[in-house]
Amino acid sequence: MDLLSDKWIVNVVLCLLFVGNCNSVEKKIYINLNETFPCVRLLNATHQIGCQSSLSGDVGVLHLLESEENLDWVLRTGPNPPYMVILESTLFTRYRPCSLKNGSSRVAGVLAVQPTSNPPEGFSPHTSCPNENTGVYSETYGPSYAHCNVTMWNPLGTGISYEEFDFPIFSVKDDNDTEVIRRCYMEHNRAVNGSTPQYPLCAMQLMSHMAAVTDTATCMRRNAPTFSLAPDGVCDPLGDANIWASTKPLNSSTKGHKDGVSVVIAATKLDSRSFFFDVAPGADSAATGLVALLAAASALHNATAELNRTILYTFFNGETFDYIGSSRMVYDMAKNDFTVDLDNIHSILEVGQVALGPDSRLWLHSDPVSKRNSSVNVEPNVTQPLPPSSFQRFLLERPIPGVVIENHQTSFTNKYYQSMFDNAEYLKLNYPPNLTPEEQLELVTDSAKALTEVATTVARGLYLQAGGELAQMSRIQADSELVSKMLYTFLVRVNNSWFDQLVKSDWTGVLSELMLYEINTSERKVKTTEPALMVQCILANLTGSIANITEVYFCPFSSPNFLFLCCQIYSYLWVQGPVRPNSTERDSFCVRSLVRQSKALSPAFELSEYTSKNYSTWAESRWSAIKGRIFLVASHDLEMLTLGVGVGVLLMSLLLTYIVSSKADILFSSGREPTNATY
Ligand SMILES: *[C@@H]1O[C@H](CO)[C@@H](O)[C@H](O)[C@H]1NC(C)=O
Ligand SMILES: *[C@@H]1O[C@H](CO)[C@@H](O)[C@H](O)[C@H]1NC(C)=O
Ligand SMILES: *[C@@H]1O[C@H](CO)[C@@H](O)[C@H](O)[C@H]1NC(C)=O
Ligand SMILES: *[C@@H]1O[C@H](CO)[C@@H](O)[C@H](O)[C@H]1NC(C)=O
Ligand SMILES: *[C@@H]1O[C@H](CO)[C@@H](O)[C@H](O)[C@H]1NC(C)=O
Ligand SMILES: *[C@@H]1O[C@H](CO)[C@@H](O)[C@H](O)[C@H]1NC(C)=O
Ligand SMILES: *[C@@H]1O[C@H](CO)[C@@H](O)[C@H](O)[C@H]1NC(C)=O
Ligand SMILES: *[C@@H]1O[C@H](CO)[C@@H](O)[C@H](O)[C@H]1NC(C)=O
Ligand SMILES: *[C@@H]1O[C@H](CO)[C@@H](O)[C@H](O)[C@H]1NC(C)=O
Ligand SMILES: *[C@@H]1O[C@H](CO)[C@@H](O)[C@H](O)[C@H]1NC(C)=O
Ligand SMILES: *[C@@H]1O[C@H](CO)[C@@H](O)[C@H](O)[C@H]1NC(C)=O
Ligand SMILES: *[C@@H]1O[C@H](CO)[C@@H](O)[C@H](O)[C@H]1NC(C)=O
Repeated sequence: MDLLSDKWIVNVVLCLLFVGNCNSVEKKIYINLNETFPCVRLLNATHQIGCQSSLSGDVGVLHLLESEENLDWVLRTGPNPPYMVILESTLFTRYRPCSLKNGSSRVAGVLAVQPTSNPPEGFSPHTSCPNENTGVYSETYGPSYAHCNVTMWNPLGTGISYEEFDFPIFSVKDDNDTEVIRRCYMEHNRAVNGSTPQYPLCAMQLMSHMAAVTDTATCMRRNAPTFSLAPDGVCDPLGDANIWASTKPLNSSTKGHKDGVSVVIAATKLDSRSFFFDVAPGADSAATGLVALLAAASALHNATAELNRTILYTFFNGETFDYIGSSRMVYDMAKNDFTVDLDNIHSILEVGQVALGPDSRLWLHSDPVSKRNSSVNVEPNVTQPLPPSSFQRFLLERPIPGVVIENHQTSFTNKYYQSMFDNAEYLKLNYPPNLTPEEQLELVTDSAKALTEVATTVARGLYLQAGGELAQMSRIQADSELVSKMLYTFLVRVNNSWFDQLVKSDWTGVLSELMLYEINTSERKVKTTEPALMVQCILANLTGSIANITEVYFCPFSSPNFLFLCCQIYSYLWVQGPVRPNSTERDSFCVRSLVRQSKALSPAFELSEYTSKNYSTWAESRWSAIKGRIFLVASHDLEMLTLGVGVGVLLMSLLLTYIVSSKADILFSSGREPTNATY
């Protein structure tokens, strides 16, 4: 409170000083950074992680860290602390901001310049044992496997994504913005031949104030409308939608057990994260798995009629944050609040990280504790637990047989797990530079070919598990053109002619803004993010069929506000269709499919158990403004002088107000009755 009122006084002083021409002064002095990616605050049952600035933003003198010797200037010798440290490209991955955490009184913030190519030595800001507390292995289930005792899945994991920083950390692309910053530093702040840089100095302000503090229980309490200081809430539970589709019609209006239905779950995940908000391409960690599963679903499309088991394609969301999506689906199934229940599940096949290099292979992982139930026996010959996977959440409930397909035998082969470098470049999605975007879309890269093999393997495995005949298996074959188009769409450019065939092109940029509505349920609207919606549209078109004339009535083509209309059994999607030759007209059609959404919100929030140890408790703080700007500061003495003058003016005006108000009777004498009003 003290701090707040101090700031208030300073603001008043500044207003008095600059009264009238505040705006023009601001325009001249400040250069705003146009595209920044902040590190934001997340909370769980016990901790807060991530970064934040003070309410009005943190300010420091720019210091460009070019090499290790420079660090000493920031932490000890530099004469003008606090410093706003600029980490050039790969320095962020090598030093890690942790070494700056130590001297945090001299560090006002960090700006990390994104390298233009991936660091060859690898970098993972995630933990070395992902989701270690919410998987199946614990003191009561396979204790010798708990906490990655046998296999450390992500040995490169530094864990910085899970640390707390009390200064802001932003990331910027290496572009014109960065040039402006470098020039400002070079011209004003660089110590030449050991001399001390002279005022005015180039400074930077980073603003990313986070509203939530301490932990999820605290912020959920403050979210309650009775807490008057934060009427809009201070944090939101992390959550989204799972996407699922069955190969046979299942009535969704009756929940719980379905007699005679045997379901093979084909699972993968939709989400990824990185240290910075909104830069998480998740190429190997999520995109390969979901593209392989989509391509497998397409390859199986014509064969599912002859299978007597139902395949349930599920794309879990929020798995990175302690298995939000899968834990919710298992919870719903156990409560008879899903279309099928756990007794309906025959087995599970999960697709994990499946990017394949020239000499890599696929590995099937199974659970050594419940293995006697498994019908699949191809697996690494070392006895080790399951890697982090949604399957573990099913095993927590009961010993269902299943396997997880991965591109690693023991530790991850992915050097960039849950970092911004797990991208198209890492997957070697290289396109010759002279190709137009359309030609790139059509090009089948080697990575796409390898992933097509994976998709074929997945499709054939599902075919057999669902009761298909071994002799018929070889006709199941994934389509490499489809795989390359999907890789291009998820990792290079959404805005392309293939994806345009699905949804109106002016929607593709704003998919995340769209709401989906379900009719025939009393469910609240679910807000769905872009990847989930993209998967939902693609899966519907790949596994659905063109609706007949009577059903077209259901298609929500007349309204731009929602994409899908879901009825008891089918859901309908209006597909834009391909452009007619020699025309701009499209041949649109309505697709009837069995694709649906289900909630991916942790049961901890459903149960209001914000300190839950069994379910994900991750919540994201709200913030009001994410901003960065650079400007020149005058010397500290000059600032103090300015402040002194300001305080003088303030005192004068207070005195004046006091005199005016106490003598008001005399000064403004009128017929009104005298009041003792206080100002
Ligand atoms: C932080 O400072 C302590 C003592 O000053 C030192 O032992 C430790 O190694 C430092 N940590 C880092 C990450 O620099
Ligand atoms: C770790 O595994 C080894 C065997 O691989 C076992 O002897 C040891 O007790 C395990 N440690 C824990 C903490 O369970
Ligand atoms: C919350 O997150 C912190 C940091 O990752 C972790 O150490 C802690 O175990 C987590 N708490 C729970 C209950 O999962
Ligand atoms: C960046 O700078 C270059 C050359 O100075 C200029 O051609 C280009 O248009 C600038 N880009 C943006 C986005 O301002
Ligand atoms: C940000 O964009 C505006 C307008 O697009 C431009 O005038 C300004 O120079 C940009 N800022 C930087 C730091 O490049
Ligand atoms: C810095 O020192 C070097 C040699 O000691 C000299 O050549 C150079 O001109 C100096 N630069 C400035 C800006 O004084
Ligand atoms: C599925 O069957 C239809 C007709 O029976 C055929 O036109 C289509 O190409 C087949 N699709 C695949 C992926 O095999
Ligand atoms: C599937 O069909 C085969 C014969 O085609 C039959 O032997 C088997 O029992 C059926 N399985 C189920 C689960 O209905
Ligand atoms: C595991 O399999 C590999 C080849 O598949 C073999 O080289 C290795 O000796 C096997 N290890 C054990 C412990 O059987
Ligand atoms: C949608 O489905 C149609 C018919 O199966 C197919 O020709 C088209 O390529 C698909 N489009 C997309 C974007 O999946
Ligand atoms: C259209 O499909 C619905 C549902 O599958 C079916 O009941 C109806 O008979 C079909 N109508 C025509 C004209 O095929
Ligand atoms: C499209 O235009 C070209 C040249 O104008 C013509 O040769 C071709 O027949 C046209 N195609 C159709 C389907 O009209």
